[in-house]
Amino acid sequence: MTKTHDGATRTTHHRLLNWVDEMAGLCEPDRIYWCDGSQTEYDRLCEEMVESGTFVRLNAQKRPNSFLARSHPSDVARVEERTFICSRRKDEAGPTNNHMDPVKMKKILTEAFRGSMHGRTLYVIPFSMGPIGSHIAHIGVQITDSPYVVANQRIMTRMGQKVLDTLGEDGEFIPCLHSVGAPLEDGEPDVPWPCAPRIEDKYIAHFPETREIWSYGSGYGGNALLGKKCLALRIASVMARDEGWLAEHMLILGVESPEGKKQYVTAAFPSACGKTNFAMLIPPAGFEGWKVTTVGDDIAWIKPNKDDGRFYAINPEAGFFGVAPGTNPESNPNAIDTLYANCIFTNCALTDDGDIWWEGLTQEPPEHLIDWKGNDWTPGSGIPAAHPNARFTAPASQCPCIDPEWENPKGVPVSAFLFGGRVSKHFPLAFQSYNWEHGVYMAATMGSEATAAAIGQAGMRRDPMAMLPFCGYNMGDYWRHWLLIGRQMVATPPRIFRVNWFRKDEHGHFMWPGYGENMRVLKWVIDRCNHVGAAIESPLGWVPDYDAFRWDGLDFPKDVYAAINNIDTEVARHETNDQEELFTSFGDHLPREMEHERALQLARLIHSPRVWDLADAAKLG
Ligand code: GTP
Ligand code: SPV
Ligand code: MN
Repeated sequence: MTKTHDGATRTTHHRLLNWVDEMAGLCEPDRIYWCDGSQTEYDRLCEEMVESGTFVRLNAQKRPNSFLARSHPSDVARVEERTFICSRRKDEAGPTNNHMDPVKMKKILTEAFRGSMHGRTLYVIPFSMGPIGSHIAHIGVQITDSPYVVANQRIMTRMGQKVLDTLGEDGEFIPCLHSVGAPLEDGEPDVPWPCAPRIEDKYIAHFPETREIWSYGSGYGGNALLGKKCLALRIASVMARDEGWLAEHMLILGVESPEGKKQYVTAAFPSACGKTNFAMLIPPAGFEGWKVTTVGDDIAWIKPNKDDGRFYAINPEAGFFGVAPGTNPESNPNAIDTLYANCIFTNCALTDDGDIWWEGLTQEPPEHLIDWKGNDWTPGSGIPAAHPNARFTAPASQCPCIDPEWENPKGVPVSAFLFGGRVSKHFPLAFQSYNWEHGVYMAATMGSEATAAAIGQAGMRRDPMAMLPFCGYNMGDYWRHWLLIGRQMVATPPRIFRVNWFRKDEHGHFMWPGYGENMRVLKWVIDRCNHVGAAIESPLGWVPDYDAFRWDGLDFPKDVYAAINNIDTEVARHETNDQEELFTSFGDHLPREMEHERALQLARLIHSPRVWDLADAAKLG
């Protein structure tokens, strides 16, 4: 093996140098390359990937400096069943995580990583989650044998020499080891998307006590871009617990009223349930003078501020790794405008003129495409042309509605926390919690229907705070942390709301128009925070009456509005009873407040009519 250190980077960080040497000794790459994060380096890597077949360069007129990658058909989403929290005690990982003893996992993975980079280059990617040098940022260093990962990390994080400079000789960093796990024989040419194709050979392993990440066998998204879900959520959630802050699967947006009052809201929706769309919302007709801006679309780090007693949120990322299907100039014009150039598209379809396409981009599909598997496709093919979890990787700085404060290391003050799932039946459009504890209970008992963002999801599942796949420790302790932080760390905690854009009628059609029209809900949320919005007490929380919304520009029938807010109390009672099973699974780790809130909700439901009807309740009020 010829071991050369390429790249023009400089570091005198001995721990880092030693770790890279040690990992290179284990993985046995042909070369080691330290990434400087420059445009020249990015361009060169992309060109190399075009030559090797990993990337297709898109039409330079239509989509300058942009590329399409097609993954191996088995490697298309996060693999939750192969995601592990390796704390010393199983109890620490809790009942909602896969657990393995850290010593045992290291042993298994050491064997897997041994020689895994044969024939490939080991890239060293120093990256910062959060603005470089900010007190709120955390640095990671990812080792990977995937140039695709390097290119994506350059868009998703701040990376390169600047990060090494900030690390200095002895700065703290989170080591993130990654290999696609398909070593090459001597002289064997590489395939476009190497990975370990069998799911049982993939491991996304987290060591919360030593703050390390080892990921093996997948090149896709959250499995491989280790700054994202692995560091900024699973490891960061543990750091947040220890240090008194929150690491959440939340978008962050700004709302400015025509009078110029600016407020910020964060929202936790499970994967592929509308964060990117909500974060980039364009206020509809009837909301002239209102402005919505984007701070982040996937992850929020939220810290209490002692000076004003409020929570401040930052987006630790620098790009969007967004769901492509369904994105179009009507549903999300800001995303479409963000994608004009400098993007990576994964598992989208390729048009005959060298551009990308996905289901929902245009009303009529093109007559011919190359689908995400690389095959000829026509509208009659009967299969989707893009994978349902096809994604774009785009620089956040290209987003036309990016908030001017998006890189402010202080973060933005949060007025409200929204929690929402994908629930097609029985769940109201919006309601507010009675207080902080009730809000935490509402968020903890969230449910959502399956999406393509993770392989093999159950049809419907509980997804507390949209963090089920991302909490790095015992979820019961995480709830306790939420209860505590709202009570003790800030004087005025944000108001908490539940929302659901996805209720369907008996024909399977969405009853709420969603997207830009979600502004109507957002305005009500803001009104509530400002003590000017009306709401009616229901068994679940404070519900907005028809007249509490601004309806200018939308002719939305009152009876449909009632239908998406009415509560079938028998169904709600079953659901509330059902929560016991989840709660019991936490044993001693369950905060007592949760059971109290559940009992109160049951009591309210038992004493309500069979159908709690918004119109009736409004009359009474
Ligand atoms: P991750 O990146 O996986 O964390 O997902 P996300 O929460 O950012 O999801 P995203 O905004 O990309 O939305 C996923 C899917 O939900 C897309 O297909 C959207 O078209 C659809 N969607 C988003 N908002 C709405 C809405 O208000 N109503 C309806 N009916 N669908 C929506
Ligand atoms: C999600 O699944 O919530 C995503 C995509 O945002 S991934 O980066 O794959 O986690
Ligand atoms: Mn996500």
